[in-house]
Amino acid sequence: MAFPASFLDELTARNPIEDVVGQYVALTRRGSNLFGLCPFHSEKTASFSVAPDKGIYYCFGCHKGGGPINFIMEIEGLDYPDAVRFLAKRSGMEVPEDAEYRSTYKKQERLRALCKDAARYYYNQLNGPAGQPGRDYLVKRGLSKQTVTRFGIGFAPEGWSGLMDTMTKNGYTKEELLEAGLVVKSQKGSLYDRFRNRLMFPIIDVRGNIIGFGGRVMDDSKPKYLNSPETIIFNKRKNLFALNIAKKSKQGRIILTEGYMDAISLHQYGFDCAVASLGTALTEEHAQMLAKYTNQVVLTYDGDEAGQNATRRAIPMLEKAGLQVKVLRMQGAKDPDEFLKKYGADKFKVLLERSENHAEYRLLSLQNKYDLTVDEQRIQFLKEASELVASLSNAVEREVYGTRAAEAAGITPQAMQVEVNKAYKRRTAREKKRQEQQDLDVASQRQPKEKSLRYSNLTSASAEECILRQILKEPEAMEDLKLLPEQFSAPVLGKAYGILKRCYEEGRPVTLRSLEQDLSPEEMNHLTKVVAERDELVSEQALHDCAAVVRDCYEKTALAGDKIEAMRAMQKSMIQKKGIKKKGTGGLP
Ligand code: CTP
Ligand code: MN
Repeated sequence: MAFPASFLDELTARNPIEDVVGQYVALTRRGSNLFGLCPFHSEKTASFSVAPDKGIYYCFGCHKGGGPINFIMEIEGLDYPDAVRFLAKRSGMEVPEDAEYRSTYKKQERLRALCKDAARYYYNQLNGPAGQPGRDYLVKRGLSKQTVTRFGIGFAPEGWSGLMDTMTKNGYTKEELLEAGLVVKSQKGSLYDRFRNRLMFPIIDVRGNIIGFGGRVMDDSKPKYLNSPETIIFNKRKNLFALNIAKKSKQGRIILTEGYMDAISLHQYGFDCAVASLGTALTEEHAQMLAKYTNQVVLTYDGDEAGQNATRRAIPMLEKAGLQVKVLRMQGAKDPDEFLKKYGADKFKVLLERSENHAEYRLLSLQNKYDLTVDEQRIQFLKEASELVASLSNAVEREVYGTRAAEAAGITPQAMQVEVNKAYKRRTAREKKRQEQQDLDVASQRQPKEKSLRYSNLTSASAEECILRQILKEPEAMEDLKLLPEQFSAPVLGKAYGILKRCYEEGRPVTLRSLEQDLSPEEMNHLTKVVAERDELVSEQALHDCAAVVRDCYEKTALAGDKIEAMRAMQKSMIQKKGIKKKGTGGLP
């Protein structure tokens, strides 16, 4: 749904960009702008800037930019409406929502509050007299007091209604308890606590809300884990255990584990970037979520068949989301938790640094693709394998995997080496050519990074950019610019111009922020770049010249369009005439 403009204006007025960004990034003033280390890519010198007068942030390194709403979308991983709500909450504003949203949102808020209350109950139980078995088990598993607190681990005691009784006393209804999956209805219709005599792990979403639980038995009984069912706040496909903590990690990667216990152990041993999936296979949604917070994911699934299959399935998904994937292999332990206890954090760190890129997996899947007993297929395999090996950036790696491919295909490592070298040379030649092309193509540097926004007419688009920069500084300049949004050659710039024009006419602020609601994050990034990368104020004359260029280009294309139209019409009439002639001379062949 769209939020009213007046509400958004007030929202952005109450959330100055420097304050919003300042809560995440340490900023220092340089001139009229503020600078800091970009939170969206890792860097050592500050190329991330905030311009309070323009109400925007912009990174000269990774080219991300926009207003406060974009910033929150980006850093908190929220969609537009939720970012608006986030800022509204921050500044104590009431969000004007429609009735349907209000009722689901209210329900969700109730369930979130309930889960939080339930977690408190389980936590208190763990630390109370009934919690002895839980505390003993935690000691046995070597979890420290600090870890228990950090993850809010609790305990569900024996008994059928401990939680239900306490929660109803706290004002929640039985329906709400059912909807949150905390109680279960028996066939006879009576209600009882879902989690009994289990250690409780709260599952927390990226925003810090408790949305469900995983409960572990303390012996060998089955099922080992019981998880909350899917609810209106809990979706296993869209959440990862401990991501709320790992998203803040400075370790530059995220370690993906199979089990809650593995993630928790890793945190305890200092790897605050570990997350676990919730007892399901990794999904595309997970991959996209991870890509918001990191560039590199290290898979540490179990070494057994199932774990290896899960690894093979996860790799392409993570790669598709633009992530660099590494695979950590352990020897002498089945999972990270066991490994850490046996060998300690330092040894794990070594494994982590050494974790393989997934060349091995790609090689294996190539091997599976071909029947290597058939000569033709073997040749095809070697061709693809040498390309793959040649793509590895490290010479030792090329040697190791080259040898493996040779062994698989039953040729000598030397012969393989020759093939790899050839492929490597082809590759570097291609690379060089591409680089040269890119350097040559100066115009391409003036093009938007985002492909879908590419300009069709650079001359016009440059003038359009200049006009936008100017009117953002001096909105009055729009008055005697006789220019229509549809005359812009670049749709994104024309769209922005149209919105700003309307804002001006309606007496609303003419700022980049006014565009946040209607433009996509990619469009906002681009516009911010247009505004932030140049800071000139041109003369009135120059502005009119720009407008003239735009009109001129527009007319030329329109003219070209007309010409095509005219030619089409002519062709059509000729065909018709021919037809008539044919008719008239009907008897002739
Ligand atoms: N799981 C589940 N239901 C089960 C078993 C496992 O949902 N009956 C999920 C849990 O999310 C669990 C993960 O699968 O964390 C991995 O299982 P496992 O390796 O058995 O659990 P760990 O977390 O390693 O627990 P522990 O070390 O205590 O055995
Ligand atoms: Mn385990």
